Amino acid sequence: MRLILLAAPGAGKGTQAEKLSEHFGIPTISTGAILRKNIQEGTELGKLAKKYIDDGNLIPDDVMIKVMDARLAEDDCKNGFILDGFPRTLTQAQELDKSHIKIDCVLNLNVADETIINRLSGRLECSKCAATFHKIYRKPKVEGICDFCGGKLVTRADDTPETVKSRLSTYHSQTEPLLKFYREKGLLKTVDGQDGIESTTKEVLKALK
Ligand code: AP5
Repeated sequence: MRLILLAAPGAGKGTQAEKLSEHFGIPTISTGAILRKNIQEGTELGKLAKKYIDDGNLIPDDVMIKVMDARLAEDDCKNGFILDGFPRTLTQAQELDKSHIKIDCVLNLNVADETIINRLSGRLECSKCAATFHKIYRKPKVEGICDFCGGKLVTRADDTPETVKSRLSTYHSQTEPLLKFYREKGLLKTVDGQDGIESTTKEVLKALK
């Protein structure tokens, strides 16, 4: 299974990717997580990425394509993968299309902007292992502490109302056109992602059968 999760910021890509990764036994490649790890480690890529992420803009295509070329060539991707956050522009999608990697399915989670704003305003992320929680919809067992590694839960730097607005606008102008690109290739499946986490997972698994 080589799957692309294509949806707006905060639609639930990371949350569903975690479930699918467990179900299919394949890794999730999250470009956002790769970039945030680089920011934390202070690498050159991290320094460059921070400028774009803080404003809700996309990292330049040539940089992202190079990062993903290297990541997808790693051993753990041999039996399949879930792409969370890539491709995000037509250029990225065309480059992936030109490569030897054949995608089986592109899954679009359909979620309204108002729901997304509500979800992102309550998101919490583990500062150690990057697991995602929500103040209402996915509460950790102990407030402020990650269920998996005991790390401290924090609000992501790009979840401020201003940046969320900018990320949504970037999505509509630069990433949404990919829906047409993949529909025309016969790869696109759309699932309603408005409902709760578990019922969305059920719908996603049904769509992937
Ligand atoms: P990235 O980390 O990919 O962020 P994003 O696309 O904005 O997506 P998010 O991680 O914010 O949301 P999600 O859809 O995974 O939702 P989640 O499951 O957490 O990218 C960050 C930045 O990096 C970009 O802005 C860009 O600058 C850069 N970048 C990344 N890739 C790039 C690329 N290819 N090219 C250029 N630049 C790139 O869910 C959100 C919250 O809602 C959580 O709290 C969760 O618990 C809750 N929730 C989830 N599902 C449900 C549900 N069904 N019901 C109730 N609550 C739910």
